[in-house]
Amino acid sequence: MKSIASAPAKIILFGEHFVVHGTKAILAAIDKRVTVTTIFTENKTIKINSELGTIEVPILSSHEDVKNEFKPFVYLANKIINSEPNVTGLEITIDSDIPIGVGLGSSSACCVAAAASISELFNKLSSEEILNLSIEAEKTIFPNTSGADCTVCTYGGMIEYDQSSGTRKIESTFQINLVIANSMIPHSTKSSVERVSKFKENDEERFSQLCDLENGLIDEVITAMKNNDSTTLGLKMSENQEYLEEIQISNDTLRNMINSLNQISLGSKITGAGDGGCIIALVQDDNMDKVPALLGKDKECFSAKIDTKGVVWGMIEE
Ligand code: PMV
Repeated sequence: MKSIASAPAKIILFGEHFVVHGTKAILAAIDKRVTVTTIFTENKTIKINSELGTIEVPILSSHEDVKNEFKPFVYLANKIINSEPNVTGLEITIDSDIPIGVGLGSSSACCVAAAASISELFNKLSSEEILNLSIEAEKTIFPNTSGADCTVCTYGGMIEYDQSSGTRKIESTFQINLVIANSMIPHSTKSSVERVSKFKENDEERFSQLCDLENGLIDEVITAMKNNDSTTLGLKMSENQEYLEEIQISNDTLRNMINSLNQISLGSKITGAGDGGCIIALVQDDNMDKVPALLGKDKECFSAKIDTKGVVWGMIEE
Protein backbone atom coordinates (compact mmCIF):
# COMPACT_ATOMS: atom_id res chain seq x y z
CA MET A 1 0.00 0.00 0.00
CA LYS A 2 1.34 3.37 -1.07
CA SER A 3 -0.04 6.77 -0.08
CA ILE A 4 0.60 9.64 -2.49
CA ALA A 5 -0.21 13.32 -1.98
CA SER A 6 0.75 16.44 -3.85
CA ALA A 7 0.44 20.14 -3.01
CA PRO A 8 1.06 23.31 -5.02
CA ALA A 9 3.63 26.08 -4.68
CA LYS A 10 2.38 29.54 -3.84
CA ILE A 11 3.01 33.22 -4.32
CA ILE A 12 2.10 36.06 -2.02
CA LEU A 13 0.44 38.73 -4.12
CA PHE A 14 0.09 41.24 -1.28
CA GLY A 15 0.78 41.47 2.45
CA GLU A 16 3.87 39.36 3.19
CA HIS A 17 5.54 40.18 6.53
CA PHE A 18 2.67 42.44 7.61
CA VAL A 19 0.49 39.29 7.78
CA VAL A 20 2.75 37.94 10.56
CA HIS A 21 1.71 41.02 12.58
CA GLY A 22 -2.02 40.61 12.02
CA THR A 23 -2.80 42.33 8.70
CA LYS A 24 -4.51 40.72 5.72
CA ALA A 25 -2.65 39.09 2.82
CA ILE A 26 -3.62 37.80 -0.62
CA LEU A 27 -2.02 34.58 -1.81
CA ALA A 28 -2.39 32.30 -4.81
CA ALA A 29 -1.46 28.67 -5.40
CA ILE A 30 0.48 28.18 -8.63
CA ASP A 31 1.09 25.36 -11.08
CA LYS A 32 4.25 23.85 -9.61
CA ARG A 33 3.94 20.89 -7.23
CA VAL A 34 5.61 18.70 -4.66
CA THR A 35 4.63 15.03 -4.41
CA VAL A 36 5.13 13.00 -1.22
CA THR A 37 4.85 9.20 -1.27
CA THR A 38 4.73 7.15 1.96
CA ILE A 39 4.97 3.38 2.42
CA PHE A 40 5.19 1.06 5.46
CA THR A 41 8.52 -0.69 6.11
CA GLU A 42 9.70 -3.34 8.60
CA ASN A 43 12.86 -1.41 9.53
CA LYS A 44 11.73 0.32 12.76
CA THR A 45 12.92 3.57 11.19
CA ILE A 46 11.66 6.67 9.48
CA LYS A 47 13.49 6.96 6.16
CA ILE A 48 13.22 10.16 4.12
CA ASN A 49 14.41 10.48 0.51
CA SER A 50 14.58 13.90 -1.11
CA GLU A 51 16.75 15.87 -3.54
CA LEU A 52 18.46 17.27 -0.40
CA GLY A 53 19.63 13.78 0.56
CA THR A 54 18.43 10.72 2.47
CA ILE A 55 18.17 10.24 6.21
CA GLU A 56 17.08 7.25 8.27
CA VAL A 57 16.37 7.63 12.00
CA PRO A 58 14.85 5.25 14.57
CA ILE A 59 11.08 5.63 14.91
CA LEU A 60 10.07 7.96 17.73
CA SER A 61 13.51 9.64 17.90
CA SER A 62 13.24 13.41 18.26
CA HIS A 63 12.79 15.64 15.21
CA GLU A 64 15.08 18.11 17.01
CA ASP A 65 18.07 15.85 16.24
CA VAL A 66 17.82 16.00 12.44
CA LYS A 67 18.76 18.74 9.96
CA ASN A 68 16.20 21.54 9.57
CA GLU A 69 14.95 20.43 6.16
CA PHE A 70 13.95 16.98 7.50
CA LYS A 71 12.38 18.14 10.79
CA PRO A 72 8.76 18.55 9.58
CA PHE A 73 8.71 15.02 8.09
CA VAL A 74 10.15 13.37 11.21
CA TYR A 75 7.74 15.39 13.36
CA LEU A 76 4.72 14.32 11.29
CA ALA A 77 5.79 10.67 11.08
CA ASN A 78 6.36 10.47 14.85
CA LYS A 79 3.14 12.26 15.70
CA ILE A 80 1.13 9.83 13.58
CA ILE A 81 3.10 6.69 14.57
CA ASN A 82 2.65 7.58 18.26
CA SER A 83 -1.07 7.03 18.00
CA GLU A 84 -0.68 3.79 16.00
CA PRO A 85 1.11 1.17 18.17
CA ASN A 86 1.67 -1.48 15.44
CA VAL A 87 3.68 0.59 12.98
CA THR A 88 7.14 -0.87 12.26
CA GLY A 89 8.50 1.90 10.04
CA LEU A 90 7.82 4.43 7.29
CA GLU A 91 9.62 5.47 4.13
CA ILE A 92 8.76 8.93 2.83
CA THR A 93 9.87 10.10 -0.63
CA ILE A 94 9.67 13.71 -1.79
CA ASP A 95 9.68 14.72 -5.48
CA SER A 96 9.41 18.41 -6.17
CA ASP A 97 9.40 20.83 -9.08
CA ILE A 98 9.27 23.83 -6.69
CA PRO A 99 12.57 25.72 -6.36
CA ILE A 100 13.79 25.63 -2.74
CA GLY A 101 14.31 28.67 -0.51
CA VAL A 102 13.13 31.34 -2.93
CA GLY A 103 9.72 32.24 -1.48
CA LEU A 104 7.53 29.95 -3.59
CA GLY A 105 6.34 27.94 -0.60
CA SER A 106 8.43 24.82 -1.10
CA SER A 107 8.56 23.99 2.62
CA SER A 108 4.85 24.72 3.17
CA ALA A 109 3.84 22.60 0.17
CA CYS A 110 6.08 19.79 1.54
CA CYS A 111 4.43 20.06 4.98
CA VAL A 112 0.93 19.94 3.46
CA ALA A 113 1.68 17.04 1.08
CA ALA A 114 3.52 15.11 3.83
CA ALA A 115 0.68 15.60 6.34
CA ALA A 116 -1.79 14.27 3.73
CA SER A 117 0.42 11.41 2.53
CA ILE A 118 1.48 10.08 5.96
CA SER A 119 -1.93 10.41 7.63
CA GLU A 120 -3.76 8.76 4.72
CA LEU A 121 -2.01 5.44 5.54
CA PHE A 122 -3.92 5.42 8.83
CA ASN A 123 -6.98 7.69 8.81
CA LYS A 124 -8.93 9.74 6.33
CA LEU A 125 -8.47 13.36 7.37
CA SER A 126 -10.35 16.45 6.20
CA SER A 127 -8.50 19.27 4.40
CA GLU A 128 -8.78 21.34 7.57
CA GLU A 129 -7.14 18.60 9.66
CA ILE A 130 -4.36 18.28 7.09
CA LEU A 131 -3.85 22.06 7.23
CA ASN A 132 -3.62 22.08 11.04
CA LEU A 133 -1.09 19.21 11.01
CA SER A 134 0.97 20.93 8.30
CA ILE A 135 1.16 24.20 10.25
CA GLU A 136 2.35 22.28 13.35
CA ALA A 137 5.02 20.64 11.17
CA GLU A 138 6.10 23.94 9.62
CA LYS A 139 6.52 25.41 13.12
CA THR A 140 9.40 22.93 13.71
CA ILE A 141 11.48 25.01 11.29
CA PHE A 142 9.71 28.35 11.43
CA PRO A 143 7.94 28.95 14.77
CA ASN A 144 6.51 32.36 13.82
CA THR A 145 4.75 31.27 10.64
CA SER A 146 1.51 33.12 9.97
CA GLY A 147 0.05 29.90 8.51
CA ALA A 148 -0.83 31.74 5.28
CA ASP A 149 1.43 29.62 3.04
CA CYS A 150 0.15 26.23 4.27
CA THR A 151 -3.42 27.51 3.95
CA VAL A 152 -3.15 28.39 0.27
CA CYS A 153 -1.17 25.19 -0.49
CA THR A 154 -4.02 23.20 1.11
CA TYR A 155 -7.02 24.90 -0.51
CA GLY A 156 -5.48 26.12 -3.80
CA GLY A 157 -6.88 29.07 -5.78
CA MET A 158 -6.59 32.63 -4.58
CA ILE A 159 -7.26 33.51 -0.93
CA GLU A 160 -7.50 36.48 1.38
CA TYR A 161 -5.97 35.47 4.69
CA ASP A 162 -5.53 36.87 8.15
CA GLN A 163 -4.48 35.09 11.29
CA SER A 164 -7.53 36.01 13.37
CA SER A 165 -10.41 35.64 10.93
CA GLY A 166 -8.79 32.96 8.74
CA THR A 167 -9.31 32.34 5.05
CA ARG A 168 -11.68 33.70 2.44
CA LYS A 169 -11.57 32.30 -1.10
CA ILE A 170 -11.38 34.99 -3.75
CA GLU A 171 -13.77 33.85 -6.47
CA SER A 172 -12.45 35.94 -9.32
CA THR A 173 -12.64 35.44 -13.05
CA PHE A 174 -9.82 37.93 -13.21
CA GLN A 175 -7.13 36.74 -15.61
CA ILE A 176 -3.76 37.70 -14.22
CA ASN A 177 -0.68 37.23 -16.31
CA LEU A 178 1.98 36.85 -13.67
CA VAL A 179 5.66 36.55 -14.33
CA ILE A 180 7.78 35.08 -11.56
CA ALA A 181 11.47 35.95 -11.68
CA ASN A 182 14.01 34.27 -9.43
CA SER A 183 16.91 36.42 -8.19
CA MET A 184 18.79 33.12 -7.60
CA ILE A 185 19.69 34.43 -4.13
CA PRO A 186 18.49 31.96 -1.47
CA HIS A 187 16.92 33.50 1.61
CA SER A 188 15.94 32.54 5.12
CA THR A 189 12.31 33.35 5.91
CA LYS A 190 13.07 33.02 9.63
CA SER A 191 15.82 35.65 9.65
CA SER A 192 13.88 38.09 7.41
CA VAL A 193 10.87 37.81 9.72
CA GLU A 194 13.10 38.38 12.77
CA ARG A 195 14.57 41.51 11.18
CA VAL A 196 11.12 42.91 10.45
CA SER A 197 10.18 42.30 14.09
CA LYS A 198 13.25 44.37 15.10
CA PHE A 199 12.11 47.16 12.73
CA LYS A 200 8.72 47.05 14.50
CA GLU A 201 10.34 47.17 17.98
CA ASN A 202 12.41 50.21 16.93
CA ASP A 203 9.50 52.16 15.42
CA GLU A 204 6.14 50.82 16.64
CA GLU A 205 4.28 53.90 15.40
CA ARG A 206 5.49 53.74 11.78
CA PHE A 207 5.07 49.97 11.66
CA SER A 208 1.48 50.28 12.81
CA GLN A 209 0.87 52.96 10.11
CA LEU A 210 2.33 50.59 7.50
CA CYS A 211 0.03 47.78 8.71
CA ASP A 212 -2.99 50.11 8.31
CA LEU A 213 -1.79 51.12 4.84
CA GLU A 214 -1.38 47.45 3.87
CA ASN A 215 -4.91 46.59 5.04
CA GLY A 216 -6.33 49.54 3.08
CA LEU A 217 -4.34 48.57 0.00
CA ILE A 218 -5.68 45.01 0.15
CA ASP A 219 -9.28 46.28 0.29
CA GLU A 220 -8.58 48.32 -2.85
CA VAL A 221 -7.03 45.26 -4.52
CA ILE A 222 -10.14 43.16 -3.82
CA THR A 223 -12.28 45.85 -5.47
CA ALA A 224 -9.87 46.08 -8.43
CA MET A 225 -10.08 42.30 -8.88
CA LYS A 226 -13.89 42.40 -8.84
CA ASN A 227 -13.77 45.12 -11.52
CA ASN A 228 -11.16 43.30 -13.64
CA ASP A 229 -9.04 46.43 -13.23
CA SER A 230 -5.49 45.27 -13.96
CA THR A 231 -4.08 48.82 -14.09
CA THR A 232 -5.02 49.43 -10.44
CA LEU A 233 -3.80 45.96 -9.49
CA GLY A 234 -0.39 46.72 -11.00
CA LEU A 235 -0.19 50.10 -9.26
CA LYS A 236 -1.04 48.45 -5.93
CA MET A 237 1.76 45.93 -6.44
CA SER A 238 4.25 48.75 -6.87
CA GLU A 239 2.79 50.58 -3.85
CA ASN A 240 3.12 47.41 -1.76
CA GLN A 241 6.75 47.19 -2.87
CA GLU A 242 7.37 50.64 -1.36
CA TYR A 243 6.21 49.31 2.04
CA LEU A 244 8.49 46.28 1.65
CA GLU A 245 11.41 48.61 0.82
CA GLU A 246 10.68 50.58 3.96
CA ILE A 247 10.82 47.50 6.22
CA GLN A 248 14.17 46.70 4.61
CA ILE A 249 13.66 43.28 3.11
CA SER A 250 14.72 44.41 -0.38
CA ASN A 251 18.22 44.69 -1.83
CA ASP A 252 19.97 46.03 -4.97
CA THR A 253 19.44 42.85 -7.00
CA LEU A 254 15.71 42.77 -6.30
CA ARG A 255 15.38 46.53 -6.90
CA ASN A 256 17.18 46.25 -10.25
CA MET A 257 14.94 43.37 -11.33
CA ILE A 258 11.82 45.31 -10.29
CA ASN A 259 12.99 48.50 -12.04
CA SER A 260 13.76 46.56 -15.23
CA LEU A 261 10.38 44.85 -15.31
CA ASN A 262 8.56 48.08 -14.46
CA GLN A 263 9.47 49.27 -17.99
CA ILE A 264 7.08 46.71 -19.48
CA SER A 265 4.75 45.71 -16.63
CA LEU A 266 1.76 47.21 -14.87
CA GLY A 267 3.53 46.70 -11.55
CA SER A 268 5.93 44.43 -9.74
CA LYS A 269 7.06 43.52 -6.25
CA ILE A 270 8.88 41.00 -4.09
CA THR A 271 6.88 37.87 -3.29
CA GLY A 272 7.57 36.14 0.03
CA ALA A 273 10.16 36.97 2.65
CA GLY A 274 12.50 38.98 0.38
CA ASP A 275 16.27 39.45 0.90
CA GLY A 276 16.53 37.30 -2.24
CA GLY A 277 14.05 34.82 -3.61
CA CYS A 278 11.53 35.89 -6.24
CA ILE A 279 9.72 38.92 -7.55
CA ILE A 280 6.40 38.93 -9.38
CA ALA A 281 5.30 41.25 -12.19
CA LEU A 282 1.97 41.81 -13.87
CA VAL A 283 2.79 41.73 -17.56
CA GLN A 284 0.47 42.20 -20.53
CA ASP A 285 0.54 39.51 -23.24
CA ASP A 286 2.25 41.74 -25.82
CA ASN A 287 5.24 42.30 -23.55
CA MET A 288 5.82 38.75 -22.33
CA ASP A 289 8.63 38.03 -24.82
CA LYS A 290 10.63 41.05 -23.57
CA VAL A 291 10.95 39.71 -20.00
CA PRO A 292 14.02 37.40 -20.29
CA ALA A 293 16.22 40.05 -21.97
CA LEU A 294 15.31 42.66 -19.35
CA LEU A 295 16.24 40.33 -16.50
CA GLY A 296 19.49 39.04 -17.94
CA LYS A 297 20.88 35.55 -18.40
CA ASP A 298 21.69 34.89 -14.74
CA LYS A 299 18.02 34.98 -13.63
CA GLU A 300 15.26 32.42 -14.11
CA CYS A 301 11.75 33.41 -15.02
CA PHE A 302 8.47 31.73 -15.90
CA SER A 303 4.85 32.67 -16.14
CA ALA A 304 2.56 31.17 -13.53
CA LYS A 305 -0.99 29.89 -13.74
CA ILE A 306 -3.24 29.72 -10.69
CA ASP A 307 -3.67 26.18 -9.32
CA THR A 308 -7.27 25.56 -8.27
CA LYS A 309 -6.91 22.03 -6.86
CA GLY A 310 -4.83 22.55 -3.71
CA VAL A 311 -3.70 19.37 -1.95
CA VAL A 312 -4.77 16.08 -3.55
CA TRP A 313 -4.15 12.68 -2.01
CA GLY A 314 -5.01 8.98 -2.34
CA MET A 315 -3.88 5.38 -1.90
CA ILE A 316 -2.44 3.00 -4.48
CA GLU A 317 -2.53 -0.82 -3.98
CA GLU A 318 0.83 -2.31 -5.00
O1 PMV B 1 8.72 31.73 2.96
P1 PMV B 1 8.32 32.89 2.14
O2 PMV B 1 9.44 33.54 1.46
O3 PMV B 1 7.15 32.61 1.25
O4 PMV B 1 7.77 33.99 3.18
C1 PMV B 1 6.68 33.72 3.99
C2 PMV B 1 5.84 34.91 4.13
C3 PMV B 1 6.05 35.74 5.38
O5 PMV B 1 4.96 36.65 5.42
C4 PMV B 1 7.35 36.52 5.31
C5 PMV B 1 6.05 34.88 6.63
C6 PMV B 1 4.69 34.23 6.96
O6 PMV B 1 4.70 33.27 7.75
O7 PMV B 1 3.63 34.68 6.48
